[in-house]
Amino acid sequence: MSPRKLVIAIDGPAASGKSTTARLVAEALGYVHIDTGAMYRAVTLKVLRAGIRPSDGERIERLLATTHVALRREGKATRVVLDGEDVNAEIRSPEVTRAVSMVSRHKIVREAMVREQRRMGSEGGIVLEGRDIGTVVFPDADLKFFMIAGIEARARRRREELEARGISPDMDGLIEEIRERDSQDSTREESPLRKAEDAIEVDTSDLTIEEQVRVVVEKVRGVAEGTGA
Ligand code: DC
Repeated sequence: MSPRKLVIAIDGPAASGKSTTARLVAEALGYVHIDTGAMYRAVTLKVLRAGIRPSDGERIERLLATTHVALRREGKATRVVLDGEDVNAEIRSPEVTRAVSMVSRHKIVREAMVREQRRMGSEGGIVLEGRDIGTVVFPDADLKFFMIAGIEARARRRREELEARGISPDMDGLIEEIRERDSQDSTREESPLRKAEDAIEVDTSDLTIEEQVRVVVEKVRGVAEGTGA
């Protein structure tokens, strides 16, 4: 009998190692990876392009009525498509990163994204990563992980990511930005970032990527094969 196709939730704060882990875990298991942060980033990009203030819920609501965010698989990679346009690079810009927490506070934005995420995950065989997957989007997920890491390790990772794209940020600025985003994401009214009671906490500060992936994949295989390991 082939193992059951599960819904895996990976939540955690910015730069905690979620994205890379989720992508590689999905690859190892032959599952689909959904980066829900990328969806909120795509909406934010559209808001900024339209010249709308990230705090203006009413105009954002009108904009959402004609907005379509999709994730498209291309080989092993997933591309983010906004109204038919591939915006994979643009959604990682510093401007989008600064505005995304404010845009994703709005209930109307969250409802639209959550609806789409539930649709994509309805058949299982999926690894979703974000801030509210285990608490709100899939509270009955088969396995939930909550990734954390020390602020220095997180800033270092973010710097490496940016350096790979030719940007050289300073560490203090990065630490400040990550703290600010953590604070906004965990204090908002609508589905704030928090660890689900039944989530497994993984501190990635001193783990290599291979180790992070191994921890998650072993747990998933245990559950999929019914041993509950
Ligand atoms: O994972 P990320 O850094 O790409 O996420 C960008 C922002 O999107 C994050 O600061 C808050 C928001 N977000 C959210 O509110 N809920 C999610 N499930 C995922 C991301």
